[in-house]
Amino acid sequence: PTGAKFVEDELFEQELRRAQAEMINENHANALRAFNTLTHTYAHKPLAHLRRAQALERIAELRRSNQLLMDAIESYKRYLAFDESITNIDYRTAGERCIEHMRFLGQTQPAVAIHELLIERYPDEVQLRNQLSLTYLMSNNLIKLQQVSRDTLKRWPRDPLAQLHFGLTLKQVDGDYAQALPYLQRAIDSQAAGTQEPYFYLALGETLQRLGKQAEALQLYERGVMRGYFASVYQRSLYNVPRLRAKPFWQITDTDQAKELKQLQQSWRSIRNEALALLNVEGNFQLEAEQLRDSGNWQQFELFARGQRLHRNCQRAPITCALLEKLPAASGCRRGQIKFSAMQAQTHVWPHCGPTNCRLRAHLTLVAPEPHLTSLRVADQERTWHEGDLFIFDDSFEHEVWHNGTQLRLVLILDLWHPDLTAQQRRELTPI
Ligand code: LMR
Ligand code: MN
Repeated sequence: PTGAKFVEDELFEQELRRAQAEMINENHANALRAFNTLTHTYAHKPLAHLRRAQALERIAELRRSNQLLMDAIESYKRYLAFDESITNIDYRTAGERCIEHMRFLGQTQPAVAIHELLIERYPDEVQLRNQLSLTYLMSNNLIKLQQVSRDTLKRWPRDPLAQLHFGLTLKQVDGDYAQALPYLQRAIDSQAAGTQEPYFYLALGETLQRLGKQAEALQLYERGVMRGYFASVYQRSLYNVPRLRAKPFWQITDTDQAKELKQLQQSWRSIRNEALALLNVEGNFQLEAEQLRDSGNWQQFELFARGQRLHRNCQRAPITCALLEKLPAASGCRRGQIKFSAMQAQTHVWPHCGPTNCRLRAHLTLVAPEPHLTSLRVADQERTWHEGDLFIFDDSFEHEVWHNGTQLRLVLILDLWHPDLTAQQRRELTPI
């Protein structure tokens, strides 16, 4: 380097060392100032941006600050923009860290942009394509997940993660269980890194069940219990708080809402009338969209979701929503919903588990078909619907619905916070 360049490099090194020393001494405010100056003065030096990003992500973690994490992301992006001049290993690591933070903040589109940079730069790395898949999976974009994993399999037909992702979309998007099975099975049997997750065990188990392979499903669930993925063979929710009481059906008096629930129950006729009026207008109710239906027709009209009142829908069901406001354990339950659920005759809902053990699910029956032709199975116990009745079950246990009658079945479903959760847990648990 020329003399001037040499001096500049020396100064840069010095200032960088000073900023790093502030980090080591845990003088975070000073460190941030030093890194800000550094990236300002030496904006053309990739390393300034990388080191600033690394400091920011560290401090963001310590302070649990999303704002600092966003600053870290910006710094990473600036670093990655230097592209050509960065060595391979640093480029990839920086890209992967950046993606991790974007995923955490739910920034799917920006993350995809970074994935594409990495894939373009390292076109022979299957892992980078699987990472893109994972971002789509985490943001529940199963259509994109299918496109990416299908593409990956064209070049790497035996890659376990690509098989897993593609199999998942065959089940979840296409409802094609026979096609999905070999992909899911091979991937999970491979035990390859990234395939041993509760979510994937659940998907394979459900696929086996839907193909009538109950004994194999049970074996797999037992393996899942042994690995600590599931509380029990029947209770397979994924977002759990440990040590909550767990049983398939609950008495109203076992909950902490007995008085409130009985009061709601007394108004069942006005709730029914409101629900029936809504059901009469085409397009109000939404089809169940999670591939839980084997056959028939099953629709819902949501009133509260994740503890939030859905204003537009509540305006159309003012009586019911006013009653529900008196039941904050349900209307404020951020791990549940409140909805009308309309099931037509000749419907079968596959066995499935709810996502969390943090709620109990009540059914207030508004319109009941023939009781001997309908049933709700929860674990190994069955019940049916009677007008004006209210029962409670724990939907983290496997449950399955048959409606072999001839009439409409209409219920108000309300999820309640599990009575064993403290007020603090109810405030702090992430919504589902
Ligand atoms: C379920 O949670 O799957 C069922 O309770 C839904 C329903 O409408 O019966
Ligand atoms: Mn369910």
